[in-house]
Amino acid sequence: MNQEAIEKARQHFEKLVIEQLERVERMKHAEGWIDYSELKPIIIGVIGGDGIGPYIAAEAQRVLETMLADEIKSGKVEFRVIEGLTIENRAKVNKPIPDDVFEEIKKCHVTLKGPTTTPRKGDPWPNIESANVAMRRYLDLFANVRPVKVPREGIDWMFFRENTEGAYVLGSQGVEVTEDLAFDFKVITTQGAERIIRLAFEYARKNGINRVTIVTKANVVKTTDGKFLKVGQKIAQEYPEIECDDWYIDIMTAKLVDPKRRRDFKVIVLPNLYGDILTDEAAEFQGGVGTAGSANIGKRYAMFEAIHGSAPRMVREGRAQYADPSSMIRAGAMMLNHIGFPEKAKRLEMALDICGQYEKKLVMTGRPTGATGKDFADYILETVQDAKLEERWKGYAFG
Ligand code: IPM
Ligand code: MG
Repeated sequence: MNQEAIEKARQHFEKLVIEQLERVERMKHAEGWIDYSELKPIIIGVIGGDGIGPYIAAEAQRVLETMLADEIKSGKVEFRVIEGLTIENRAKVNKPIPDDVFEEIKKCHVTLKGPTTTPRKGDPWPNIESANVAMRRYLDLFANVRPVKVPREGIDWMFFRENTEGAYVLGSQGVEVTEDLAFDFKVITTQGAERIIRLAFEYARKNGINRVTIVTKANVVKTTDGKFLKVGQKIAQEYPEIECDDWYIDIMTAKLVDPKRRRDFKVIVLPNLYGDILTDEAAEFQGGVGTAGSANIGKRYAMFEAIHGSAPRMVREGRAQYADPSSMIRAGAMMLNHIGFPEKAKRLEMALDICGQYEKKLVMTGRPTGATGKDFADYILETVQDAKLEERWKGYAFG
């Protein structure tokens, strides 16, 4: 036996246990929810990120600034561009988020973030932790909220993916005990499960939705997924008007493609990695990950992002201006809703549906054969400003 390796692994594990116990204590004494109606200004940070990120983030910012022109003028809302969350800078300081960038991020109430490159072994970059995952963790953005809608097929899903635990939270802190033995760790806490599951049930209650689905693999991953499910079933008792069912991730993945069953799902709550996978599958029904937005919500901060990558190849090939800004703009709509402008959010979502799914007067191909991101953003803006927007949308969605 390699006693030295065992001892090293034991110490590593002990450190993780201490950190997680401290995190549980912090969660137990967590603050309440921030109230945006009391803030003046609400500071919105725009983080370009890598690759096509700065291009599509700039278009999303332009759309939002146009829609919030009055609020900017009155001082209710302020936009700030945050530079420097690039893979080059992150590699230079060997950190997922450089300190100075993180200081700027913390000065904003909410951020709109472009995609950031996540290195893996073998890349030309040091194998640092994902900037997304770090930001979710550092700002305690525990809820990853991802809607998928295809009205014509009756699909209206709202995913609540746990964002700070599961296989992700310690994903960068596994141990290679020996050359032949590797461990990663998965963590679920009572407090962490409770807050995300409660948010899902509250959302269902507020929106008159009578079903919440919990997804785990609790029959196999008994300890952590078992806890998530147990906490979920306990919370469900506080919401007697809402039916709560539980599914295993494998059969859930199958049922999502079953046209007879999939429209029955409404609100779905699940641990981190399952949520990562299932939301990519779900987004495919609505036109792919490029059409999907994602909200990362905590009690104090929130970050809104596209759910796709940074497409460095498009930049290398000189095609960045043809990148589709829809996912960033959809994230922007979620942001509008979150900070207290639900009417504007709804209009923007309808315009996105019309331009991207229905009317398609301009089509994005990612190449000069299609529209540029700027033209597409203009198309969305024109559509948002149409007085007949709602009728137009209803005609397409249900006509
Ligand atoms: C997502 C992405 C990220 C994740 C990556 C980029 C780390 O896939 O937001 O779903 O896995 O969470
Ligand atoms: Mg993902």
